[in-house]
Amino acid sequence: MVTKLKSRNITENDFPKDADDLTKVSFILHYAILAPSSWNAQPWIFKLQGNTIKLFHDAERMQTHRDPLGRENIISCGAALCNLRIALRRFGFLEETVIMPPNSEENLIAEVTWKNTGEFGKDNKLFKAIQQRHSYRKPFTDEIVKPELIELFENAAKVYGCEFIPITINSTQMALAGMISEGDKDLGADLATRKEYASWVRSSGRSEDGVPGYAMGNTNAVAGILAPLTHRVFNYTDEFARGDQALTCATTLLGVITSPTDTPSDWVQSGQAVERVLLSAAANGLQASFLNQPIPVVELRKRLQSLLGLTDWPQLILRIGYPTEAPKVTARRKLDDVLLL
Ligand SMILES: Cc1cc2nc3c(=O)[nH]c(=O)nc-3n(C[C@H](O)[C@H](O)[C@H](O)COP(=O)(O)O)c2cc1C
Repeated sequence: MVTKLKSRNITENDFPKDADDLTKVSFILHYAILAPSSWNAQPWIFKLQGNTIKLFHDAERMQTHRDPLGRENIISCGAALCNLRIALRRFGFLEETVIMPPNSEENLIAEVTWKNTGEFGKDNKLFKAIQQRHSYRKPFTDEIVKPELIELFENAAKVYGCEFIPITINSTQMALAGMISEGDKDLGADLATRKEYASWVRSSGRSEDGVPGYAMGNTNAVAGILAPLTHRVFNYTDEFARGDQALTCATTLLGVITSPTDTPSDWVQSGQAVERVLLSAAANGLQASFLNQPIPVVELRKRLQSLLGLTDWPQLILRIGYPTEAPKVTARRKLDDVLLL
């Protein structure tokens, strides 16, 4: 059964070329669920109906305190949608996608209607990058990201009607670093938010979802295993604020993903946009991590808009650069757990 395969270990050679179309589409979903998601909550459910894939937001996996509207989870579903569409084309399926169709079922994010042409896609750089992309939270090398790559990221976001705004002026970068640190402090000052975060921290290497301890800065083996406990008991807000500010200042490229308005469809599009930017980066040897802390804080989001002279809505903040070591790999839930046939 293709649904028993592990997404992280899958290869193109596993594609069930002699199977029926539904089995092929199920196989392709393994690539969708390699998308990044807020707290690695993987808040998606897929339903296969005839030649349509329905992607739903799994509202039970929301961070209800920090994100009561589910903005970040819907963005995460958008990232999975981006992967799905790229992987469908790779394996010869044409698709048409409708985002949040009107009068549709609750929590429906998108309907993707497919047709198998049997003709495999030729330009597979972005497809291959699905397995190369990982969140990379360590310092990058000081190699400058070339202007043509920045242009590639700008164009990637535009495919979905969004913008990638590169931060190229040093004083703006420093101001943004200050806001990220303020965001850390603002969110961390709230006990309920801290508890919610802690509930998604997992022992390093021991879970199919959530953020492993090492990603929270618990880099030695014992601290990584104890992380779910220590993050419930201790308040690391000041360490996060200092660490994130230092990382931001030391990064050669920061970028903000924006959308024209701030509706749930904009969040889906922002998710597709950020994933295409991340895949374009990974396809060129770069990695990235998220530093979104100012965005959930209303006043900081407004200040970010005015810092960048924007009327559009900032949705995500990225640092992008060349990694100094192999990125760590996070786990995914089994396809069986997110697929309704
Ligand atoms: C909408 C969204 C918000 C995220 N916010 C953060 C964040 O604030 N800090 C962070 O370190 N990672 C953040 N991430 C990255 C996730 O933690 C990461 O994608 C997840 O742990 C899976 O790991 P991977 O990206 O290496 O596959 C975010 C990802 C998404 C899609």
